[in-house]
Amino acid sequence: MEQLIKQLDQYRKDIEAYMTATAETAEEFRIKYLGTKGIVKSVMGEMKNVAPEERKHFGQILNEFKQTVEEKYHQLKESSAEKTETAGAAFDYSLPADNFLTGSRHPLSIVRSRIISIFSRLGFAVAEGPEIEDDWHNFGSMNLPEDHPARDMQDTFYINNSKEEGIWLLRTHTSNVQARVMEKQKPPIRVICPGRVYRNETVSARAHCFFHQVEGLCVDTNISFADLKHTLYFFVKEMFGSDVKIRFRPSYFPFTEPSAEMDISCLICEGDGCAVCKHTGWVEILGSGMVHPKVLENFDIDPNKYTGFAFGMGMERICQLLYRVNDLRLYSQNDIRFLQQFTGSV
Ligand code: DAH
Repeated sequence: MEQLIKQLDQYRKDIEAYMTATAETAEEFRIKYLGTKGIVKSVMGEMKNVAPEERKHFGQILNEFKQTVEEKYHQLKESSAEKTETAGAAFDYSLPADNFLTGSRHPLSIVRSRIISIFSRLGFAVAEGPEIEDDWHNFGSMNLPEDHPARDMQDTFYINNSKEEGIWLLRTHTSNVQARVMEKQKPPIRVICPGRVYRNETVSARAHCFFHQVEGLCVDTNISFADLKHTLYFFVKEMFGSDVKIRFRPSYFPFTEPSAEMDISCLICEGDGCAVCKHTGWVEILGSGMVHPKVLENFDIDPNKYTGFAFGMGMERICQLLYRVNDLRLYSQNDIRFLQQFTGSV
C-alpha cells in the first residue's frame, strides 16, 4: 500500500512534466494513462489487494488520481489544437513586433500640398476640372480658335476629333480649369488649380506624355501686373527661401496680354552656372500674364470693369529644384527606392 502511494506520487510528477503537446503526444498520453491497458486501469486493479477497512480511503486517493490524469489529458488536447491553428509552430509572444511600414508621400504630392498651403494664405481657393476635356474649354475659350498656330505649341492627344461627334481630348494644360471656373463664378475670383495634363511627347528624362501643372487665376477690379508680380514673389520666397531672386521675360501666350515667363535664380549653383540652369544662373518656372480681354468676354466678364492675372507652372520643375530629381520618368515608375527618400512635411 505504501509502495503504491509512492508510485502514485511518481506518476503525478511525470504527469506534471507534460507542458504542451502535439496531437500525437496528447494521444500517447491518453493511451499510456487512460487506455484499456493504461496506468489508471492498472492502479484501479490494485483495489482488490487493499484491506477492506482501508478501501474507502484508498478509493478516494485513486479517484483523485484519475481526475488529475483526465484533467491533464484535456489540457494537452486543447493546447495541441491551438498549436495546429498556428501551423504547428510554437508562437513566442515575447518576440518584438514586425516593423510596421507606414509608407511616405509622393514628392509631387508634397509639393502640391505646399503650393496649396502658400496660396491659401493669400486667399486662393483650390479648383479642379476634368482631364478629358472638350475643344472649347481647353483651347477655344482660352483664345486659341481652330487653326490658331499656337495650338501647335502643345501636341494634343485627341480622343475624338470629328466635327459631328465633337472634339474631345486629354487636356494639354490646366488652363481649362480657368474656363470651368469663369463659366460658373463671377469676379472676385482667386483660385489655383493643380492637376495632371497630357501631351503627345516621346518619354525621356526631360519630357513625358503626362505631367502636372498648377494654374492660378485672379480676376477682380483694379488687378494689375504688380499684383501678379508680388503674388508670385511671395510664392517663390515661401517655397524656396528668401534669398531667391525672380525675373520676368516678355513672352507670348494666347490667353494673356501682356505675357511673361518667370525665372528664378538657380538654387543648385546659386547663379554660378550649372547643367540645370544651362549655365545662365536662371531657371524658368512658369508662364504668366494679364488675362486677355477676349478670354474674359468669353465668360461674360466685362474687361472694362475687371482685369485679372493668370499663371501656369510645372510641378515637376518645382520638385526638380527642391529635391534635385533630374529624370521625369522617376515620378511614375513607382520604384520604392526613389519614393522612400521623400519625407518632407506638408
Ligand atoms: N498653359 C500654359 C502652358 O501649359 C501655361 C500658362 C502660361 C498658363 C501663362 C497661364 C498663363 O495661365 O497665364 O504652357
